[in-house]
Formats: sequence, structure tokens, C-alpha cells
Amino acid sequence: MGTTRVLQITDSQTGLSYEIPVVDGAIRAIDLRQIKVSDDDFGLLSYDPAFLNTASCRSAITYIDGDQGILRYRGYPIEELAGQASFLDVAYLLLHGELPGKDESAGWADEITHHTFVHENVKKFIDGFHHDAHPMGILVSTIAALSTFYPEAKAVSDQARQHEQIVRLIAKMPTLAAFAYRHAMGLPYAYPDNELSYTGNFLNMMRKMSEPRYAPNPVLEQALDVLFVLHADHEQNCSTSTMRVVGSSQVDPYSAAAAAAAALFGPLHGGANEQVLRMLGEIGSVGNVPAYIERVKRGELRLMGFGHRVYKNYDPRATIIKKVADQVFEVTGRNPMLDVALELERIALADDYFIRHKLYPNVDFYSGIIYQAMGFPVAMFPVLFAIGRMPGWLAQWQEGTTDPEQKISRPRQLYVGQGLRHLDGTAQVRR
Ligand code: SDX
Repeated sequence: MGTTRVLQITDSQTGLSYEIPVVDGAIRAIDLRQIKVSDDDFGLLSYDPAFLNTASCRSAITYIDGDQGILRYRGYPIEELAGQASFLDVAYLLLHGELPGKDESAGWADEITHHTFVHENVKKFIDGFHHDAHPMGILVSTIAALSTFYPEAKAVSDQARQHEQIVRLIAKMPTLAAFAYRHAMGLPYAYPDNELSYTGNFLNMMRKMSEPRYAPNPVLEQALDVLFVLHADHEQNCSTSTMRVVGSSQVDPYSAAAAAAAALFGPLHGGANEQVLRMLGEIGSVGNVPAYIERVKRGELRLMGFGHRVYKNYDPRATIIKKVADQVFEVTGRNPMLDVALELERIALADDYFIRHKLYPNVDFYSGIIYQAMGFPVAMFPVLFAIGRMPGWLAQWQEGTTDPEQKISRPRQLYVGQGLRHLDGTAQVRR
């Protein structure tokens, strides 16, 4: 057993010293509570708004090294998985810790395929949304609504029940997403085609018109599958942390996933891919890029699709997405917005402001350009992100339910409000 690493802390107010064990590069925040200045002192808290330097859990699912630009799912580099492992096999890897064998892969795909339908009543409340309702608003609502169709999902500690809901959520996300899109377009819902792959069936439900059977373009089907792989998990990002926090109350996974999808919708998170395309459209042409960059440097606005809390180097997913773009454009024709994006990147990466702030393109910078070239409306971009991220949310949620150290999440606060006072106007001087 190696020597235990210990943090020696001396409190200058009391002169008392403490030894705080350091394990896996961290101290337990609860160990700070022993540091007191008096017997009735609550003890020392750690204060970490936005959790910049706080580990909320132990996880074996995804590893990120932000300085090296490393992303691995269960130890496999994203560069190897993207293009070599299907999205469903990567979902299996995230959930089970190993890639499925040939038979397991076929059985898993078959199980997912046979859960793609949603209750016919789901269509009734999708029909209730305005024609211009944002599809993410519809998706968040319909994910939550699924909890009312599967009350057995409340048995969150039952492994068999967990598996049933995990299969349903992964299987039904493309159906809910496509139905939201078809509603917005005023098109009839296209039902799942169980002869198609997971991603091919999604394209079918999005695109099928009067033809007897929809045949997805194999290049676009494969490109979208790779994009889903790239979005599948990303350790404790905002939406995944939300999934864990909401799941810690032991609510069903549909309600937790709806909360995660709501978090993802934010423009600083998964909603950024939509904002990138709106930004590129606003810039309009390569010639307008320098002026826009100056506005960003003046702090007037943010360069959407740039920057990351963890990656202080190039987001490895952005590198892969740029390669996928070339394959897609061979089929769809080049998206002129790519030229604006490439010029933005070229200027930004050479500019001291972006270098000092360690701002590089993230996963959202190029993905939207591909989605637009594939014919998806901009509002659907965060929905596509959510389809890809669902297996990650579920794997992290599942890991949390079996972690003996986890319990309901309930952070403390530093109270900075009024001291005791009374309605008759008397007030006690604040301690
Ligand atoms: C995703 O966490 C994940 O893993 C998320 C994700 C995943 O897979 O789940 O990777 C997906 O959400 C990617 C990020 C998508 N969001 C965007 O592209 C929106 C634009 N980016 C930023 O808003 C920002 O970079 C964040 C939100 C991504 C990260 O923000 P941080 O780490 O909280 O950094 P910050 O906001 O404190 O900014 C630090 C400094 C600030 O300048 P100062 O006040 O110190 O002078 O950098 C500046 C910021 O103004 N800055 C930017 C900028 N991002 C940060 N300036 C211009 N443009 C930007 N994009």
C-alpha cells in the first residue's frame, strides 16, 4: 500500500492543524467540516459556483483530458470509435462497459428496433403545439410524457425495469424527434420502418413522403451515425449533471431525461449548434468576418461554437466532424457557410484574444453546417444533439443509481441575505 497523500491545513485563526487525505487527486469536501473556529461553528464549507473545480461523482464511463484534447468512451479513443463502431454499439459500450460481440450487437439492435413506436396518444399532444413550436420544446415535453405511459419505470433500482426504460428511451428518441419535425412542417407522421438501421429509420421518419418505402442515402446515414457517436457522452457536462441530480431523487428516468434535454437546450450548451448557424448567417460572408471578430473581442457577443469549460485545446470531436463534412458535401454539395466558418476559425486561432482565452472550435462549431447541408432546419440541431446524447445520459444515470456513495443531491449555500427581523420593524443586528 503506497504512502497516503495528506494535505496539511493550519487554520491561522485557531492555530489548529488538520490532516486531510488526498485520494485520486481530490479531497473530500466533507473532510473540511472538522475545521472550526468554535464549538458551535458549522465547520468549513467549500464554495464552488458553477462547479468549476468540484468532482460530483466517480465515473468509469468517459475520460476527457482538456489540455491534451483527449476523449475516450470506456477507454477507447473517440477517433477510433467514430466511423468504426455504430452508434448503437457505442450506446451498448457506454451502458455495459464493453463493445457488444456480433450476436449481442444484433440482439441489441433488434431490441431497440422493436421499441421505436410510441403510443398513438403521443401524436395527440404533439398536434396541440403551435405550428412554429420549437422542436426542442416538443421533445422535452414528450420525453417527460413517456413517464405517464410506463409507470413501472418508477422502480428505478430494479435492473430489469431500468433496462426496459433505457431501451425505450434510446429507441423512441428518433420517433419523437421526427414527429416534432413533421408536426412543424405540417406533414403526416411517418412511422418507423423496422427494416432500416437506427439512423436510417430516423431519416425515414423525417423524410418519407409518398414513396412506398424510404431509402436513406447510405453516405448521409453513415455520416449522421458518426455524428451521433461523437455526441454520445461527455462526462459531467451540464445536461448529464442534470440527469444525475434529478435522477438522485429516485424519479423515473423519463422525467430525469426530460430535465437533461431541457438543460441541453440552453444556447451555452447543446443549443449552441443552432446559434452557430444563426451567427454564420448573420455574418453572411467571408468579408464580414474581421468586423465580427472585433465585436467579439470587445465583449459585445460570444463566438458561438467556440470555447469549452474542459477543452483548452482543440475539441477532438470538431476535428472528426470537419472530416465528416467533406463526405457529406460530396452528396449534398458544399455548404457556403463552411467558408465563413473556416475563415472565422482561421482568424480566431491566430488572434491573441482567442489564444489567451484558450478558445478553440468545439463540437457545435461544425456540426450545424453538416446538419444544414443534410437538409435539417436549424431548430432541429439541438434535437439531433439530444438523440446522440441519450445513451450517455442513461449510462451516467444508471451508474449513479448503483454508486454506494451517491444519495439525493442537495448542495449547501453561503447565506448573504437579511438577518432576523420582525414585521413590527424591530430587527436584530446580524451576527
Ligand atoms: C457543449 O461541458 C461539455 O462537455 C459540453 C459539451 C458536451 O458535449 O456536453 O461539450 C457540449 O456545450 C459545447 C459548448 C457549446 N457552447 C458554445 O459554443 C457557446 C459559446 N461558448 C461559451 O459560452 C463558453 O466557451 C462555454 C460556455 C462553452 C464555456 O464557458 P466557461 O468555461 O464558463 O468560460 P467563461 O464563460 O467563464 O469564459 C471565460 C472567458 C470569458 O472572458 P473574461 O470574462 O474572462 O474576459 O472566455 C470568454 C469569456 O468572455 N469566452 C468567450 C467565449 N467563451 C468564453 N469569448 C468569446 N466567445 C466565446 N465563445
